[in-house]
Amino acid sequence: MAYRVLGRAGPAQPRRARRLLFAFTLSLSCTYLCYSLLCCCDDLGQSRLLGAPRCLRGPGAGGQKLLQESRPCDPSGPTPGEPGAPSAPAAGAPSPRLAGANHSGSPKLGTKRLPQALIVGVKKGGTRAVLEFIRVHPDVRALGTEPHFFDRNYGRGLDWYRSLMPRTLESQITLEKTPSYFVTQEAPRRIFNMSRDTKLIVVVRNPVTRAISDYTQTLSKKPDIPTFEGLSFRNRTLGLVDVSWNAIRIGMYALHLESWLRYFPLAQIHFVSGERLITDPAGEMGRVQDFLGIKRLITDKHFYFNKTKGFPCLKKTESSLLPRCLGKSKGRTHVQIDPEVIDQLREFYRPYNIKFYETVGQDFRWE
Ligand SMILES: *[C@@H]1O[C@H](CO)[C@@H](O)[C@H](O)[C@H]1NC(C)=O
Ligand SMILES: *[C@@H]1O[C@H](CO)[C@@H](O)[C@H](O)[C@H]1NC(C)=O
Ligand SMILES: *[C@@H]1O[C@H](CO)[C@@H](O)[C@H](O)[C@H]1NC(C)=O
Ligand SMILES: *[C@@H]1O[C@H](CO)[C@@H](O)[C@H](O)[C@H]1NC(C)=O
Repeated sequence: MAYRVLGRAGPAQPRRARRLLFAFTLSLSCTYLCYSLLCCCDDLGQSRLLGAPRCLRGPGAGGQKLLQESRPCDPSGPTPGEPGAPSAPAAGAPSPRLAGANHSGSPKLGTKRLPQALIVGVKKGGTRAVLEFIRVHPDVRALGTEPHFFDRNYGRGLDWYRSLMPRTLESQITLEKTPSYFVTQEAPRRIFNMSRDTKLIVVVRNPVTRAISDYTQTLSKKPDIPTFEGLSFRNRTLGLVDVSWNAIRIGMYALHLESWLRYFPLAQIHFVSGERLITDPAGEMGRVQDFLGIKRLITDKHFYFNKTKGFPCLKKTESSLLPRCLGKSKGRTHVQIDPEVIDQLREFYRPYNIKFYETVGQDFRWE
């Protein structure tokens, strides 16, 4: 058809055809150019979402982020999706943008893998400290934010989960922490389904102190909530503790542990004492390194104790510009609680604590 049209064309026709062809080529180039630009922008947007440079917690940026725990790291950045979606997961590995900057076609710095180890709990136990301490180790790469995959975001699928992870070399362990996993009914089964070899770390702390710390944190965000005493009991005179209140429920460790032991052997779960983490961080981190099967590189030399804060901090090193200390929100002073209520709660937790010590074979000395 086209051939016949061209073939029948008079002397004026070829010139017009050439012009047409030229215009066509030009418009194609334009389209291509626009398309490339769009792609380029899209790439940038993507890499900002996955490893926003400003949120990147490289060895240097870590301290700063720590000091500003609750502040969004980039107010001008992409708004996080639905509630529950992690806001700009920051990886401990070079950002995709940095890796992409090398145009020589070099191999990427490792691959994204599903985590081989998880810090699954507990809220207010000291999980952030363990994560920040362990990620100093060269054989560990950790996600800086909490992905909440096995509780809120499971529907997004494992590929989505993997895409959040920092790149790792074959010899490195990928790690993430989401403290709510420990009290999520479905989490053990889901994690087992990902890999039955997943190593689990649980940071535990005196459940009474934990509950108060939990309440203090909520109070700082919602100053209008009832008192701790009011929320703790269904009937205080009867000593009826309200076990449906999360601040109380989370501390019933023996109960939650049962659902994990249905899927994982005890040897695959490591318990960190939140108390000893403060008094002897090197000792606790030594055991964490043993559990992960990595060399004990994090030692006494890495810590100093900040007396004002009452917390151990990571020393300044060549690779980190700031000493890493847990920020304001971590050393927060607790509200004053009626000592009688504290006694009642101590009584309430006693049988759960004893059961917990027996199950894990360790006395945490919370009485
Ligand atoms: C890019 O990759 C090549 C090959 O691995 C390496 O020699 C070079 O140093 C890299 N350049 C940058 C800027 O990272
Ligand atoms: C287990 O994981 C597979 C993918 O590895 C998935 O297809 C399946 O739906 C998962 N099952 C459950 C019960 O989560
Ligand atoms: C608590 O229990 C006591 C004794 O049964 C009862 O008299 C009181 O009304 C209860 N208080 C509340 C708030 O339910
Ligand atoms: C210790 O903590 C206090 C209070 O947060 C802080 O002002 C101070 O700079 C810290 N000191 C060191 C040596 O890190």
